[in-house]
This record gives sequence, structure tokens and C-alpha cells, in this order.
Amino acid sequence: MVTLIEALLEKRELQGIHRPFAERIIQKIIANTTIEQDFTAEPERYMKKKIFQKIKKEVRAQIREVYGVFFEKKYSSKKDKYVQELIVNENEETVQQLLQIHRSTNERREAYDYLYTLLFEKTGKPESILDIGCGFNPFAYTYLSCTPSYHCMDLACADLRLITAYFTHKKVPHTITCADLTTYDKPFVKTDIVFAFKVFDSLETIQKGITKKIIQALQANYLIASFPTKSIGKKKTIPRREWFLRLVNEHIIDTISLENEEFYIITLKKE
Ligand SMILES: C[S@@+](CC[C@H](N)C(=O)[O-])C[C@H]1O[C@@H](n2cnc3c(N)ncnc32)[C@H](O)[C@@H]1O
Repeated sequence: MVTLIEALLEKRELQGIHRPFAERIIQKIIANTTIEQDFTAEPERYMKKKIFQKIKKEVRAQIREVYGVFFEKKYSSKKDKYVQELIVNENEETVQQLLQIHRSTNERREAYDYLYTLLFEKTGKPESILDIGCGFNPFAYTYLSCTPSYHCMDLACADLRLITAYFTHKKVPHTITCADLTTYDKPFVKTDIVFAFKVFDSLETIQKGITKKIIQALQANYLIASFPTKSIGKKKTIPRREWFLRLVNEHIIDTISLENEEFYIITLKKE
């Protein structure tokens, strides 16, 4: 028999998401209601009711808020195809085509060369990178202009599998960890650099104070964190994250600005 959770996560786009994370969102939505009992009593009938459709919409909206909203609508169905094309024939065009799918990589796709050159001028070329909330950023590997091992963490388990297919083909030593960073309690892998591009805002909305906890747990020489400076749709300018600056203040060694994004290079080395 289908469970309420399975019925609510039936959409294809929700199936690749870290399951405990999706379940946590659902539990919050149905807390203090009789939805679970009503569903279990007569699942088939309940699924036809308006209330069920309403909850389903809410679950989707909340998951999209942290995950799906970042995909450019017209391309999201082309993920598998574009990764396959990249694997078969990696060149500027197939890399750029893939980076277009995700809003974050799309916005910086023409600036990667410049960005990584400036970042590594400060940190040195890394031999290992951990990319937390990585999205599609690992697909910009070629722009690193060095060959580090690459460790990816995200909620999007299905996307991580696409990254593995790419890295395996390229023979890049890598790991993928499908996890919810707000509840992650294992040690982070030791690397030269950690990338946390456009991820802390979203983690803070789920759990206030989590950024500090994560930074304290990282085992790396440098953290490079970025924040969008304009809202999705680029209508509003988002102010600098004072809460973040207070947290890392004296450890910032440089700041790099792109059109819609600000990067902070932060040293984590203990004196
Ligand atoms: C704005 S996107 C940025 C993606 C990538 N870092 C980039 O800038 O190209 C945020 C990413 O963080 C991931 N994410 C959001 N909340 C998360 C959580 N609690 N645990 C793990 N990953 C999360 C999303 O799935 C998404 O891939």
C-alpha cells in the first residue's frame, strides 16, 4: 500500500531529493493535523480530495524553495541528455550547455576562468576541494585549471549521480555525499579548500546558526563562500550579510565581486 509520504513525493523532480530531508518538510506541514490518519483510512479516496492536492502543492513549493527553484525551467528536463553529451564529447560548448541548466552556474558561467584564477592567486592551486551544496558547480571542473580531487555534498542525490558519471569518465578522484547539511553530524572530509557557493542563506532559513556550526566543523585551509547580491530575477539588490561578516570578519583575506555574486576568501588555518 502506498504511504502518505510516497504519494506526496510522487513527482519525478522530488524523487531525487535526500529522502529524510523531504520527509522532515512533510512532517512539519502535517504536524497537528489528522491528515495521516485520514489518508491511511482510505488512501485512494483521500488522494482525490482537494485537501490532498493542496498539501502536495505545499510540499512541492517548500522543496522547490531550497532545491528546484535553482533550475532554469526550460532546461531542467535536459539534465541527463546534456551530461551524456558532455561525457561523450567534452568541449567548451558542451560544458557551457550544461552549466546553463542551473541558475547559479548559468550566472557565472562566463566568469569561471577569471573567478578561479583570482581565487587561486590567493589560496594557491588546490589538490583537493570539498563543495558543499554543490548543485551543478562540479561540472565547471575544467575551469579550475588544475586537477584536484573533488568532494561533492548536496541534497540532490540524483544530480550527484550525474556528477559521479562525469567524474568517473574523467578519472577525477571524487566522492559524493547526499546529505542534509543542517543535520549532518559526521566529520567533513579534509581538503585544501571548501567551496560554499550560494548555500548559507538557504541553510540559515532551515536552521538559524547552522553556518557557524558548519564552519567550525570544516577541516580545510580555506573556505570560499559566496552570496547572491541580487534576488532571483535580478530585481532587488540584496544587502551584504552582516551576520556572516561578523562570523568570519578577521579571517577574510579577500573579496571578489561578480555581477550578481560576492565571494569571500576565508582562512581557516589555526595560528
Ligand atoms: C543556490 S544553489 C547553489 C549551487 C552551487 N553551490 C552553485 O553556486 O553553483 C543551492 C544548493 O544548495 C543545496 N542545498 C540547499 N539546502 C541544502 C541542505 N540543507 N543540505 C544540502 N544541500 C542543500 C541545493 O540542493 C542546491 O544545490
